[in-house]
Amino acid sequence: MKVAVMGYGTIGSGVVEILNVNKDVVAKRAGEPLEVKKVLDLRDFSGDPVEKLIVHDYMDIVNDDEISLVVEAMGGVEPAYTFVKAMLEAGKHVTTSNKALVADKGAELIRIAREHGVNFMFEASVGGGIPIIRPLLSCLTGDVIEEITGIVNGTTNYMMTKMTTDGSEYEDVLKEAQALGYAEKDPTADVEGYDACRKIAILTSLVCGQQVDYNDIPTEGISHITATDIKYANKMGRAIKLLARSEKVGETYSARVAPYLLPKDHPLYNVNDVFNAIFVHGNMLGDGMFYGSGAGKLPTASAVVGDLVAMAKHVDKNIFLEWKEEKLELANPSQQNFKFFVRTKASAQEVEKVFHKVEFVDAGVSGEVGFVTCEMTQKAYDDKSKELSDVVQMIRFA
Ligand code: HSE
Repeated sequence: MKVAVMGYGTIGSGVVEILNVNKDVVAKRAGEPLEVKKVLDLRDFSGDPVEKLIVHDYMDIVNDDEISLVVEAMGGVEPAYTFVKAMLEAGKHVTTSNKALVADKGAELIRIAREHGVNFMFEASVGGGIPIIRPLLSCLTGDVIEEITGIVNGTTNYMMTKMTTDGSEYEDVLKEAQALGYAEKDPTADVEGYDACRKIAILTSLVCGQQVDYNDIPTEGISHITATDIKYANKMGRAIKLLARSEKVGETYSARVAPYLLPKDHPLYNVNDVFNAIFVHGNMLGDGMFYGSGAGKLPTASAVVGDLVAMAKHVDKNIFLEWKEEKLELANPSQQNFKFFVRTKASAQEVEKVFHKVEFVDAGVSGEVGFVTCEMTQKAYDDKSKELSDVVQMIRFA
């Protein structure tokens, strides 16, 4: 079977590498060899073995009847969306690692794939090499999924781990992450939580079978977390992690992306460095956790190749998956309940006047007060914190 790869960057080149290195095992599992016939990229890659496969026009792939499987690894919504849609309409199966595309256009591309008797798969779009999409779509379909809590961004998890172990400041750790190639030159999507937001939107869409709009998910990143916050976290025996969470509330879900203070006994507490993990609670399963390499060339490409094999085995069949285009109205995020850790320049008396019963945290930081509230809604916290002068920081307890 002939394969085309769109985008010869980190992931696309990883897919080509795996199809070479694991050629025999992939052929055995797919039922026949999978051979890369064309690679779409703007660049020429002179001197690279892939040079002779390069095409610059996606229509060269659309019009190639020999190609039945396509990998999209370009990133971003456009032109990936136009290209993928054209491939599906031409009767080609598509797998993508592109969470921006899946979060934005997933429901529509699934419908188009179904209408054309092909498959649109996206295992690599969440959690890199960790199997999470297929487990949710097949193994756990006997369950009502009541909670998904994920560390789904490797860059920020690396940064929070380093800030915790080394006591370093955010800016220094960001530079390190960039030098190691984890963080992009423009790290906004990772550090502001946008990447994690798209991933939890995808996972929530899959468990509710409807379109979850990532714009509806309140999203905070880690760029405001400081070494002083880590001192307080250490004092409380907790770790600060960027979590992407989704919880069933009645007939809908509430979702949020934010840094949280995790206790030592939380299953995600020990997920460190660039690793990802997704904790799932099903009404029958109870707790489950999927852990592993959530980013990077080969782990992510491994998930893409897994999809290629699945598509090769179902080349004449659309595998039904429920993700309707109709939008799900998420629960009101201001009604979510939390305990809040707060730092303020206000006095302890003022804190007690506003929040009544609190637990003060002494991390040896002068000129401010740190405290933990009782459990209350987000709205109650927002209202009360306005009454307090000089709130320096707020981080929710997980
Ligand atoms: N930038 C992402 C991360 C890549 O750091 O996790 C994987 O989606």
